[in-house]
Amino acid sequence: MYNPNASGANSTVAGNRLFVYEVEGLGQNQDAMSSPIRKSGRMTVTVPYNRMNAEMKRITRLGGKIVSIRPLNGGDGSSQAASANELQTDRASKPMTQAKPKAAKSSIPVNLYRPKNPFIGKCLSNEELVREGGTGRVRHLKFDLSGGDLRYLEGQSIGIIPPGEDDKGKPHKLRLYSIASTRHGDDNDDQTISLCVRELEYKNPDTGETVYGVCSRYLCELNAGDDVAITGPVGKEMLLPEDEHANIIMMATGTGIAPFRAFLWRMFKEQHEDYKFKGFAWLFFGIPYTANVLYKEELEELQAQFPDNFRLTYAISREQQNAEGGKMYLQHRIQENADEVWKLVQQPNTHAYICGLKGMEGGIDEGMSAAASKQDINWADYQKLLKKEHRWHVETY
Ligand SMILES: Cc1cc2nc3c(=O)[nH]c(=O)nc-3n(C[C@H](O)[C@H](O)[C@H](O)COP(=O)(O)OP(=O)(O)OC[C@H]3O[C@@H](n4cnc5c(N)ncnc54)[C@H](O)[C@@H]3O)c2cc1C
Ligand SMILES: NC(=O)c1ccc[n+]([C@@H]2O[C@H](COP(=O)([O-])OP(=O)(O)OC[C@H]3O[C@@H](n4cnc5c(N)ncnc54)[C@H](OP(=O)(O)O)[C@@H]3O)[C@@H](O)[C@H]2O)c1
Repeated sequence: MYNPNASGANSTVAGNRLFVYEVEGLGQNQDAMSSPIRKSGRMTVTVPYNRMNAEMKRITRLGGKIVSIRPLNGGDGSSQAASANELQTDRASKPMTQAKPKAAKSSIPVNLYRPKNPFIGKCLSNEELVREGGTGRVRHLKFDLSGGDLRYLEGQSIGIIPPGEDDKGKPHKLRLYSIASTRHGDDNDDQTISLCVRELEYKNPDTGETVYGVCSRYLCELNAGDDVAITGPVGKEMLLPEDEHANIIMMATGTGIAPFRAFLWRMFKEQHEDYKFKGFAWLFFGIPYTANVLYKEELEELQAQFPDNFRLTYAISREQQNAEGGKMYLQHRIQENADEVWKLVQQPNTHAYICGLKGMEGGIDEGMSAAASKQDINWADYQKLLKKEHRWHVETY
């Protein structure tokens, strides 16, 4: 059940540890700090744990920027480094935890099939996801994996090698696509993998001619029974935490929904015996038209079925307007909800994911920055720590 004030695990932090801040941008204010500035223009400041937040504020006030934080006496940062949650020292009532270790490397399948020896899967189905009145073509594709060893996790990507050669006569290079199904596949039999692919279409700026992307067009045109050359899987950035009680914030534009479909299906649809989600999930989804809302019916069904655990917020750019009267983009929805998102992000069991267009990132940061600054916290510094804890995940371009 969603409770923005809910706390995480028990406190594990000893208050007498020392941390080293590496700081840049304090050249003008050297007198205000006691440490020497190094050749790089950076300096280090040693801070006792219980002064970390105050010192962070002081450095920011003096125009400095904290580049890294590490424990004074070694440690690889995974067990001892300051967690973003620990930096909430002013809010003494909040329990403090350390970051959960990442999943063991060996349990994450990577590059089981390489371009020289790809897995040849079969297309089982290819369905249009854009409805009447929407723009472009986006397909949900399902491939058969039986007979091979291709395993994958939610949040990973696979490579597709389109047949044929490029204009230099060389075989086409692979293109990456986020996996849209759970590890168990859409048929729940561990034998399939699914993708969500937009056909790239644009006008050649010189000739005005319509150009289609090589691989995306190839995929969108596949028929059931066709062979497909698959590599991978790859990617460790967008993995779902194992914690069934985690809060999961998802921000997607367009086909950036692919990994989140996999997340949501695992969290709510499958109810597989190895994972029963009990946390809170919030999807922000940016699309051009209502008819472009990919997987709309299923998403709304999940929301109706799990109203306390799943929240769905659309940004429909060509139908809705933001507060300034411009297009409603995903980042405007984040800005509208920034206080709540910020509150969630401060919980040690919250993970945030961004997938799709890079252009949304700046506006998301603006929203988060406005909310964090109400508590005198610098969002850029906080975000750095969230990334260090593997709780802020980004796959955009
Ligand atoms: C990790 C990752 C995951 C991805 N996941 C997905 C996914 O789930 N779904 C999905 O649909 N895509 C996804 N992509 C994108 C995908 O990999 C391909 O880049 C995309 O499908 C285009 O490939 P293509 O072969 O069709 O285009 P290509 O034939 O390779 O053409 C692309 C080229 O066209 C040119 N071009 C593109 N747009 C324009 C323009 N407007 N004006 C002028 N020139 C232009 C550029 O030179 C560009 O490099 C992902 C990418 C990454 C890196
Ligand atoms: N893992 C990954 O890296 C990954 C995975 C999947 C997809 N992708 C990529 O993500 C992109 C999504 O494209 P799509 O064709 O699938 O989506 P789409 O259906 O065209 O939707 C994209 C939405 O984002 C809006 N948008 C445009 N510029 C934006 C900006 N600066 N900030 C926020 N929103 C913005 C668009 O609005 P308007 O068009 O109205 O301006 C539209 O509403 C593609 O480039 C795709 O290849 C990447």
